[in-house]
Amino acid sequence: MTSEKEKMIYVHSAPVRVWHWINAFGFVLLILTGLQIRYAEMLNLMPLSDAISLHNYVGFAVIFDYLLWLVYYVGSGKVRIYIPDLRQVVTLAVKQVKYYGYGFFVGKPNPHAMTPDNKFNALQQQAYLMIMFVLLPAQMISGVFLWKIKGYSEYINLLGGIKVIDTIHVVLFFFFTTFILIHCYLATLGHTPLAHFKAMFTGYEEHH
Ligand code: HEM
Repeated sequence: MTSEKEKMIYVHSAPVRVWHWINAFGFVLLILTGLQIRYAEMLNLMPLSDAISLHNYVGFAVIFDYLLWLVYYVGSGKVRIYIPDLRQVVTLAVKQVKYYGYGFFVGKPNPHAMTPDNKFNALQQQAYLMIMFVLLPAQMISGVFLWKIKGYSEYINLLGGIKVIDTIHVVLFFFFTTFILIHCYLATLGHTPLAHFKAMFTGYEEHH
């Protein structure tokens, strides 16, 4: 007979959980204040000056949080879990898409068995790798440039001017808003709708 403890596997260490929830909460605030700044004539969530200063403070908190994530993952070598195996990535990704689109709804098992060293399926791996190493840094750097346009004018001009930087920041804003919705939906597809959410708080995922 297996005990409750044996059925649980520890997949999210404390630094990852702390990083993740600060990041998630920060993103919700950044999206709300970002909407207020961008659509100031149409929205009235809060005064514009408050939205700008909250956006700046939270933006820097999220950057600091990201640096902790980077130091933890790169420093410990655990960053390997983010790198897809190029020999199998297409086959595994197709299997995962079939599962999310059909298998899940007819009770088939998840083709990816989560372990601490291999906790992401092929789709998560590709999405998270792109987000954490390309899109999030691009969002943060463009944000810092928009915060002090004059101070960074040399770099801004080098990258094509303020319109280019602003477009990058806004397009990524729409991307991340959509990402959060899809991310939350996919996170409900565990063995119970709240299983993955619980695991991101406790660290333990039930082994099935
Ligand atoms: C309300 C907002 C959010 C909720 C409720 C949420 C929920 C979750 C849950 C339940 C997991 C564990 C299951 C999984 O791996 O998919 C997870 C993991 C993850 N989430 Fe989120 N998330 C949110 C926002 C974000 C944002 C804004 C980002 C990045 C910009 C993000 C990036 C990640 C990453 C990279 C992981 C894997 C972390 C690791 O194990 O190393 N999440 N999220």
